[in-house]
Amino acid sequence: MNKSTCILAAAALLATFAPCSESKPRYHGPYIVNRWYLMQEFSETPHTDCGSVASIQNVEVIPCDSDVCNLKTGTNVTININFTPKADIAKLTAVVHGVVAGVPMPFHFPQVNACQNSNITCPLQSGQGYSYSVKLPVLGSYPKIKVVVKWELKDATGKDVVCVEIPARLV
Ligand SMILES: *[C@@H]1O[C@H](CO)[C@@H](O)[C@H](O)[C@H]1NC(C)=O
Ligand SMILES: *[C@@H]1O[C@H](CO)[C@@H](O)[C@H](O)[C@H]1NC(C)=O
Repeated sequence: MNKSTCILAAAALLATFAPCSESKPRYHGPYIVNRWYLMQEFSETPHTDCGSVASIQNVEVIPCDSDVCNLKTGTNVTININFTPKADIAKLTAVVHGVVAGVPMPFHFPQVNACQNSNITCPLQSGQGYSYSVKLPVLGSYPKIKVVVKWELKDATGKDVVCVEIPARLV
């Protein structure tokens, strides 16, 4: 499929799934992590690891006030990922997708170089802890749907140093 066909298909998917995602039952997964929201000094946003080579210490979306983060359109949200690489890394690239009904679509995120304006500087050293911190623009034009934010930080060979999925809702 060429690029414009793909974008059309993605748009059709968004339009198709927007109404039904609203009528689906609310996610009632484990709430164990919720108590962390009440603590100022440490917070953790529920996420799943989708194949990180690095070890992930903590993922934080700010603001996120429930088990499924409500991402307010027309705002910037802060994404913090604390991780420890298991190898030296010369270059790190951010790839962000919004997964809607299982289909990953590129999320608008201009900061492709993950080592710039992100609180980390390349090269990264194996075994050292890093706090990646960036702002994600949540565009006002996004449809108000459930989306899984898939955040990848890839090394020069395309391997996922970090891959995390954060369940969210565009509101
Ligand atoms: C979001 O961040 C961008 C880049 O820093 C800035 O230009 C824009 O004004 C911000 N938007 C809001 C709603 O704060
Ligand atoms: C930036 O990195 C430093 C050193 O790793 C860390 O102490 C600090 O909390 C980080 N800042 C943010 C905003 O993540």
